[in-house]
Amino acid sequence: MQITDKKIEEYCISKSSLPSKDCLSIEEYTRANVHGAGMLIGKMEASFIGFLLRSIKAKRVLELGTFTGYSALTMAEHLPDNGEIITVDINKVTVALAQGFWDKSANGHKIKSMLGSGLDIIPTLSGPFDFVFIDADKRNYIDYLKLTVPMLSPNGMIVIDNVLWGGQVLPDSESTGSDLRDRNTEFIRMVNDYIAESTDLYGTLMPIRDGMFLVQKMLSLN
Ligand SMILES: C[S@@+](CC[C@H](N)C(=O)[O-])C[C@H]1O[C@@H](n2cnc3c(N)ncnc32)[C@H](O)[C@@H]1O
Repeated sequence: MQITDKKIEEYCISKSSLPSKDCLSIEEYTRANVHGAGMLIGKMEASFIGFLLRSIKAKRVLELGTFTGYSALTMAEHLPDNGEIITVDINKVTVALAQGFWDKSANGHKIKSMLGSGLDIIPTLSGPFDFVFIDADKRNYIDYLKLTVPMLSPNGMIVIDNVLWGGQVLPDSESTGSDLRDRNTEFIRMVNDYIAESTDLYGTLMPIRDGMFLVQKMLSLN
């Protein structure tokens, strides 16, 4: 299920501030040459994340799920020169591709890639992070959330991607016919329910692209 009408999304993209040509090169190359290019966040989501990063004046970002480096570079463009993105992935082939693109770009020096599984790497990192982008294996989404909430800076936020899962998270959705996809539906429902039921988190689920959950710690306003 396409969540947003395609023409509406194209119009929104045409009027929004967008990632640079360096990012466009990654997007184009990935769509033409890399299996799984549908995993890219794409221009609409990149523009929205850029807005969030600017709003909170983010300096330090943690990303889970590098792929070919598109989302990391789009985020790097909204950090100051001394800003830093740590991005984690298990796939050394796509990470090598990503590094090649970053090395040729104006903002790639802000990105530090770590090869390995998110669950192994997160405990080796020190916070605080102003922004965490969770876009790796769905099975571990809930653990990624639980592990990174305590690492957030006071105004920090977490964005979790694909939380609508093509509409499959709806209670009356039927099986997709793929065991893996159906299992992932359950993992995503689990994290969505966890946030909805938590009194320690403030969450807003946005129907942008495949669904983005924006999460902050519920802090006192006084
Ligand atoms: C949806 S893609 C990331 C897309 C990227 N954020 C973008 O938009 O440019 C998911 C990535 O998660 C990675 N991944 C899968 N399991 C992982 C794990 N256990 N730890 C870290 N990364 C993992 C995959 O190799 C894949 O590159």
